[in-house]
Amino acid sequence: MTRRLILDVDTGIDDALGIMLAVKSGFFQIEGITTVNGNVSLQQATLNTCKITEFLGASSIPVIPGADKPLIRKPVFEHRVHGNDGLGGALLDMQPSKRPEAGFGPDFIVETVLRYPGEVTLVMTGPLTNLALALHKCPDLIHHVAEVFFMGGVAGGLGNITPTAEYNAYVDPEAARTVLHAGFRKLTMVGLDVTRRALLRADDIAKLTDPRIREYVADSTSAYFDRYEERNGVRACAMHDPLAVAAAIHPELVTTKPYYVDVETRSELCDGQTVCDFQNRLGRPANVEVCMDLNEQAFIQLFVDTLNRPEAG
Ligand code: BDR
Ligand code: CA
Repeated sequence: MTRRLILDVDTGIDDALGIMLAVKSGFFQIEGITTVNGNVSLQQATLNTCKITEFLGASSIPVIPGADKPLIRKPVFEHRVHGNDGLGGALLDMQPSKRPEAGFGPDFIVETVLRYPGEVTLVMTGPLTNLALALHKCPDLIHHVAEVFFMGGVAGGLGNITPTAEYNAYVDPEAARTVLHAGFRKLTMVGLDVTRRALLRADDIAKLTDPRIREYVADSTSAYFDRYEERNGVRACAMHDPLAVAAAIHPELVTTKPYYVDVETRSELCDGQTVCDFQNRLGRPANVEVCMDLNEQAFIQLFVDTLNRPEAG
């Protein structure tokens, strides 16, 4: 059986690194990359995704624009972290010949999953709007998707956009709730408390052998390193989205446990906070495989080795 992948991104410095990992690994047949409003506008996320795929020599991968806003809320961009362009100023002058497809991301997800029942893995690294819209259109999708991995939420720890909420869950908590309660056979949450421990450092970047790729990664992450150091006292780039991609490729890099997880949507202070019922106080069945830990060294090694592969994937 062919392992097929749809990546859903709001490209984003770390989304771009996740795309690079997925493409260079060659592990999945990438059916398409759907884009969503998030770190930057839909239009910018789509442009960035076209740039990255072309940069990787992977222009044949379809890029399909999805939702240009959350289900019911206003967009909340993250220019502070990702820069005005979303790629930290890297590839700023690139004018890609690659163009996005004419379709709509959520429709593409539905059509592709139904075309290859049981074969398509979804890796979601932006707000979950596109998947929620796909589920509204086709609730049956849950029976036909192989697996879903999403970078979002925080199981036990601090938020990164409010004191309690992780960015992707905060931007569209109604979409996150739809996905959490949809009933997927396997839904893995790669949350912030774990991705914060997946740190790429300058000496890891120095190990990238292709000078184009090394320069791109150094360029796009340089301001990100500064901001991460200001806030966390460590000079590194947190690899949130690449870890979700890596978990889909090599599940043994992370450990997971099944829990009931929900998300707050009606609180002035805590909207977007994911609540993981570690002690089963609500008495509800587990709906999520929650990432609890990772092998950081093996993950960074995988990232570097994969980007050092000579072939495009
Ligand atoms: C997530 O938020 C975005 O800024 C990143 O791209 C990542 O998907 C981390 O909270
Ligand atoms: Ca992202």
